[in-house]
Amino acid sequence: MSQQQERDGEDPIEELRRRRKQALLGGGEDRIESQHAKGKMTARERIDYFLDDGTFKEVDTFVEHQSTNFDMAEKKHAGDAVVTGYGEVDGRKVFVFAHDFTVLGGSVGEVVGDKVCKVMDKAVEAGVPVVGLNDSGGARIQEGVDSLVGFARIFRRNTKASGLIPQISCIMGPCAGGATYSPALTDFTVMVEDTSHMMITGPDVIETVTGEQISKEELGGARTHAATSGVAHMAASDEEAALDRVADLLSYLPANHLEDPPRVEPYDDPDRDCDGLAETVPEEPKRPYDVADVIDELVDRESFLEVHADYARSMVVGFAHMDGRPVGIVANQPRASAGTIDIDASEKTARFVRTCDSFNLPVVTLVDTPGFMPGTEQEHNGIIRHGAKLIYAYAEATVPLLTVVTRKAYGGAYIVMGSKELGADVNYAWPGAEMAVLGPRGAVNILYRRELQEAEDTEARREELMDEYRDQFANPYKPAQRGYVDDVIEPATTRRRLNRDLDLLERKRGATPPKDHGNIPL
Ligand code: HXC
Repeated sequence: MSQQQERDGEDPIEELRRRRKQALLGGGEDRIESQHAKGKMTARERIDYFLDDGTFKEVDTFVEHQSTNFDMAEKKHAGDAVVTGYGEVDGRKVFVFAHDFTVLGGSVGEVVGDKVCKVMDKAVEAGVPVVGLNDSGGARIQEGVDSLVGFARIFRRNTKASGLIPQISCIMGPCAGGATYSPALTDFTVMVEDTSHMMITGPDVIETVTGEQISKEELGGARTHAATSGVAHMAASDEEAALDRVADLLSYLPANHLEDPPRVEPYDDPDRDCDGLAETVPEEPKRPYDVADVIDELVDRESFLEVHADYARSMVVGFAHMDGRPVGIVANQPRASAGTIDIDASEKTARFVRTCDSFNLPVVTLVDTPGFMPGTEQEHNGIIRHGAKLIYAYAEATVPLLTVVTRKAYGGAYIVMGSKELGADVNYAWPGAEMAVLGPRGAVNILYRRELQEAEDTEARREELMDEYRDQFANPYKPAQRGYVDDVIEPATTRRRLNRDLDLLERKRGATPPKDHGNIPL
């Protein structure tokens, strides 16, 4: 029976309902079952879970591909392989697209590309974030170059939307080949453990080309990308948890670059004394501690959301509330590699500072680091140009920058960790802070090399000279006398001081002279 005949005599409203019901089934009940059997939700179930109840408005429900290649004419499904539209998360608008793996493996042909581009364009016009729920076999093989073009259009939009609206990718199935670059262009990527994989080429191709054998999970699973490559900002144990993390991220971000981040009703005394801080950070400069304890005490109770928690662990970055106000937190982590800054830590932090700067979040930086990571491997892999990214990120930032030196700030690390001269609005030091070109041992070995070689008891003389050096530099008063440090403060008062400064800087609007863009050392 033709569609026309089928329609004859059918009430138009009934017809609409029938068609919509059909569209809801995507690739059909069997494929929905097989999706469930893999422990995965369907595109629509994911959207239902993610958005506030009843807020989803679908667009392009009835779009179909036009390909007649191979047997494609028989493989038409209303909406094709992606569900798109808009709704609300915690009462705030968001555009969403979700690949429908039940239709041709969620593969991206021309109309899938067009549908995704349409919501991205609308999101930019409306100044609203866009969230992609990725579960796709990549470029649709049957549509040839039209599929590749679809991806190119998406990449261009990801790039143009960057810094205008938040873009978040949630990887909930396969994401292979060039398809990986769309999430990589967005602000955050969240992956589901065990069921999501991202890779440019899969294990079979790798074995053919290099002979190397590796499982899909080891190569491109969530844990690998969250801990080793840094491609994923977060890994979640299941789909619900991953979607919850996306909502958490959105809760700290404004809808677009022109808005302030959403301040919540303050729920923790902004003037609360942080009495535990002085004890958490040991006086002895080499004693490790967990900087997460410092952050937890400083920010509004239980508000810290760490990003990239398992990657480049010598630096901790994440969002928190201060007096209900979203801020970005950057802190050296003395528990990991003594808090040294290596290539990965530089990139992770530079990216985070730029994200905060794009979306008007003040950055609070806690400094306690012996400096950049020494070593041939680091030098040969370009710690100079990667470290430069961190300088660039802080120096170009126009949001409020507040820096607290809690203990050690040696060498280039003193400069790059949000120093006053890079543009910090406020720079405090705790009484035990040390700021110098080198740590005592390194400095004494260079300054007194000959004297030490000739000394009767080299070690005793070195200790003496190191004590002298400490007297000179192991206190915050030299930089405070020069005005590089605004004030030396008691640790317990840090929260109060930062909250007052954030009040003061609320209307700070930095101006960058018009230019196409700077040339960040990539
Ligand atoms: C068309 C595809 C497809 C694709 C999957 N399908 N990928 N159809 N184009 N790229 C179809 C399958 O034929 C199958 O249809 C259905 O989706 C489900 O796929 P299965 O293989 O049965 O599922 P599963 O075993 O879970 O494996 C999923 C998969 C695998 C790992 C994604 O399908 C796969 O390896 N697909 C190809 C991935 C790939 O190489 N893509 C191109 C990457 S390059 P039927 O009807 O049989 O059920 C790329 C370039 C982008 O994306 C360039 C941008 C610059």
